[in-house]
Amino acid sequence: MTEVQEIEQQKQYIQKVAKLNENKNLTYHILTFGCQLNENDSEKICGMLEQMGYTQTDKIEEASLAIFNTCCVRENAEERLFGKIGELKNLKEKNHLIIAIGGCMMQEEHILEKLKKSFSYVDIIFGTHTLHKLPEDLFKVLETQKKVKDVIDIDGNVYEDLPIKRNSKIQGSVTIMYGCNNFCSYCIVPYVRGRERSRKPKDILNEVEELASQGYKEIMLLGQNVNSYLRSEMEAIKQGTLKDEAGDYKEINSFAKLLRAINQIEGIERIRFVSPHPKDFTDDVIEAIRDCKKVCKFVHLPLQSGSTNMLKVMNRKYTKEQYLNLVEKMKAQIPNIKFSTDIIVGFAGETEEDFEDTLDVVRKVGFEQVFMFIYSRRVGTPGDKMPNQIPEEIKHERFNRLKQLVESQIAENNQSYLGTKQKVLVEGPSKNNEKMLTGRTESNKVVVFEGARSLVGSMVEVKMVEDHLWYFKGE
Ligand code: 5AD
Ligand code: SF4
Repeated sequence: MTEVQEIEQQKQYIQKVAKLNENKNLTYHILTFGCQLNENDSEKICGMLEQMGYTQTDKIEEASLAIFNTCCVRENAEERLFGKIGELKNLKEKNHLIIAIGGCMMQEEHILEKLKKSFSYVDIIFGTHTLHKLPEDLFKVLETQKKVKDVIDIDGNVYEDLPIKRNSKIQGSVTIMYGCNNFCSYCIVPYVRGRERSRKPKDILNEVEELASQGYKEIMLLGQNVNSYLRSEMEAIKQGTLKDEAGDYKEINSFAKLLRAINQIEGIERIRFVSPHPKDFTDDVIEAIRDCKKVCKFVHLPLQSGSTNMLKVMNRKYTKEQYLNLVEKMKAQIPNIKFSTDIIVGFAGETEEDFEDTLDVVRKVGFEQVFMFIYSRRVGTPGDKMPNQIPEEIKHERFNRLKQLVESQIAENNQSYLGTKQKVLVEGPSKNNEKMLTGRTESNKVVVFEGARSLVGSMVEVKMVEDHLWYFKGE
């Protein structure tokens, strides 16, 4: 069966489930762990569920279906998930709750064993490659009351045309590629999400055009490694294993060209992307960011470590100097460009000197935002088998030192915003104060300010008047 036929089949299951659920006023509760790719997957899950007659509820006690979309990048998500599934046991008995658990963690053998042993009351288990089959899996459970485990281990396909229910009406996420080929030695993602595969440019452009026509203003392009968009496909074409008979890749054959094409779409005002890999940051991408008015001059550039030794052990394929040179090159070519990053502390073998190198890069670049992680051993990755693991207390001590440096840098950097006027995309009323509006600057700074509700969804100029470390008050 082709991918198109598979989706057609699932649409029939959507109809079948909708029929079973007719006039029942059923609700679902969804909990998403992990990254923005998972959030985007959950939007597709919600899209399918709504077409099957369910509406969303925040109250799990009222739901007839509970869905958890899991992440396995770090260990704490695992503990949280098991706690949450444990809490569902009573509801399962009381409300005949159907429980479905899906996503990255379900691609791990030891997790499946744990679920089988301790949480046998889970109804549906689906993996990263079978998300689109939720209608079929749900139909089977509703018809037969039997448990369904639908996890496969493949390199992965690309499915188009799934229904979607988006979380925002202003910012739309668009996954442009799936999987990862990099095998950074700490990371589980390549094992659970399969090999890199990109969506066709025309499918992405159609989706962005559709979003623009619905009034969306900001597009977030998503992928594990966005700047190797279409790389595998181009290699396959070169080797003759993929024939581009339909001319799908004739005009757009790289990430840089995709950015330029999206930049042309009327109505969209901001384009962001996560995450690029420093090793793939080619000049054409830098030039596209420079030339495209709508592409934010704000780049998330995962560093992971500032030490060339550690980067080698991590299999990152760049050195400290190469990272710094890349930042310098971008600063020279793109006026006012700003950066955020991801950093892991305490990876196997990290010495005090290595850690100092990380602090050094942080000092030199001056990031707007740093997502900091304590290294978490993942079963099946090379990092887990390395002998020289760092004791927990040293990891924590280094984490705190990094945090201190980052916070002092951000506080200092925030001063340079005060008094300036920034373009802010208004997202909605502030969570803490309904009377205020909240939005973000191009560099992703949160700004809270007074204003009419009618401004939601538009780009306004806001003067930055007060700095609160993680957000600004504006006027
Ligand atoms: N431990 C801690 N952090 C990790 N990340 C990926 N794998 C691990 C791990 N095993 C971090 C990286 C990545 C971000 C999404 O999560 O910094 O960029
Ligand atoms: Fe993980 Fe590295 Fe792939 Fe990112 S690039 S998903 S850190 S293996």
